[in-house]
Amino acid sequence: MATNNNCALSIRKGAGRVSEIEQRQSLSSLKGSIGMAHTRWATHGGVTDKNAHPHASCRELVAVIHNGIIENYLPLKKDLLARGHRFRSETDTEVIAHLVEDEYKRLRDPLRATMAATKKLKGQYAIAVMFQDRPDLMVGARKDAPLIVGVGDRKMFLASDVLAFLGHTDRTIFLDNYETVELKKDKVRILSRNGKEVKRKPTQVAWELGDLSKSDFTHYTLKEINEQPRTVVSAATQDVEKVEEFARAIRKAKSLYITASGTSYHAGLLMKFRLNKEARIRADAVVAGELKEHSGFLGKGSVLVTLSQSGETADLMEAVKEAKKRGAKVYSIVNAVGSSLARESDGVLLLNCGPEVGVAATKSFTAQVVVTNMVVDAVLGKRRSNGVKELADAVAEALKCDQQIRNLVWEYKDRSDFYFVARGYESPVALEGALKLKELSYIHAEGMAASELKHGTIALIEKGTPVVVLSSSGESHADSLSSAEELRARGADVIGISDVKDEVYRHYIQVPRVQPKFTPVVEAVPLQLLAYHMAVARRNDPDYPRNLAKSVTVK
Ligand code: AGP
Repeated sequence: MATNNNCALSIRKGAGRVSEIEQRQSLSSLKGSIGMAHTRWATHGGVTDKNAHPHASCRELVAVIHNGIIENYLPLKKDLLARGHRFRSETDTEVIAHLVEDEYKRLRDPLRATMAATKKLKGQYAIAVMFQDRPDLMVGARKDAPLIVGVGDRKMFLASDVLAFLGHTDRTIFLDNYETVELKKDKVRILSRNGKEVKRKPTQVAWELGDLSKSDFTHYTLKEINEQPRTVVSAATQDVEKVEEFARAIRKAKSLYITASGTSYHAGLLMKFRLNKEARIRADAVVAGELKEHSGFLGKGSVLVTLSQSGETADLMEAVKEAKKRGAKVYSIVNAVGSSLARESDGVLLLNCGPEVGVAATKSFTAQVVVTNMVVDAVLGKRRSNGVKELADAVAEALKCDQQIRNLVWEYKDRSDFYFVARGYESPVALEGALKLKELSYIHAEGMAASELKHGTIALIEKGTPVVVLSSSGESHADSLSSAEELRARGADVIGISDVKDEVYRHYIQVPRVQPKFTPVVEAVPLQLLAYHMAVARRNDPDYPRNLAKSVTVK
């Protein structure tokens, strides 16, 4: 954190949780009418006090915080060192502070000095810059990382996400790529890439502050899991014409790609499954970070469907850039209103599930399943998606397995390996179950198609190995039960999640019977609760798991 108090620029920082740094450094006692803070996610240089942000220039005339990666920082640093600059950290970010100081000495204009400095940067950045001799203003700039202005009453905010300042204002100005902004308490100046003044009116975000409280829950993650009976209904509240527009684009597409990362990719796999199987439309589902390698058929006439909670995932934004460069149309299903993805896409459907604070995606996943099902139903010519009311009741019913899951956790919390298997349409849910458990409990977990077990992984199964088998009634139920038999025969503790009980299960978690297209929604609930309670039992913080970020804005 840095503040400027009448031309006294003070910086206090350290490695650790915000509450620990507050104790060690009493950040809240910093004085000043202007300030900035950043939680660094290490890319260049270890997680150390000196690598923490903000970074200052040689003579501490300038301080910078940065989200992103400066790819050409080494040659820039070499040149700055050769010209007598002294560095205190190993980070790429510190280069920016020295470059801005250089330009500021020359131009004496904070906005133009920042613009001149950023012109030398290659890579990705959202930055905020403070100047020791200008306690009345702050400058920000962005390229391929989100940066948003919050317009308050005689106070201004700059942040990577509206959630950061939603407690103070819901009036926002979304900055475009290569824009630089100067904030004073009652004035915003934006310059475009070629230095022209940009006039942009603030827009109001539809999210309420209330959405940000944990209400009576211990953690955001548990609150968001329990919000799902409501959020599956709000997710289904879509503009029918917009859904139709998506369906038309998919039907007309010369080639169709579905791309996303992490949990959103699992929702994409479910969409691909129904398009291939029911609509007979070929769709390639590729993780966002790999799309470039698989984009042979991506070009004019192609459609890229993307899914994202944050709408800021760097891998996904790169994939979108690639698709657009090749002339493809981009249709996105996203939660964050006004996010880069929403603004870069040709068509957008919003998840309407409210802000998701817990790092683990929960309600956004079930909302993605509802919205993608609506699009597929529209492709199949069904203008109205039915069964959402029943689904909401079923999700509320599924949440009742909470105590059973807590008991299960006590039996398995010290295990080092967990497996999740399923067949057909449920396979992506097995991947999702494994991802949730890994990211919240730090237990090694593997999700896979049950049919693949006997081709290798079954060698890892021994007495007491916990294996979750997802096998709701439907086409693949019988085959899933035979896989469960094979596992039990080798000593596995088979944990069955299904609407049909079976004696092969050592533990049976009942989920309500729903329309097959909604099975992933009700099966996700016990998987989310398993991961959440496992995290708590292992004394991990479910909301802020180690090494993870809610929005992965670096490649
Ligand atoms: C899921 O729980 C993780 N937080 C992560 O895998 C996430 O799904 C992924 O980073 C994609 O994020 P997005 O949906 O915001 O693009």
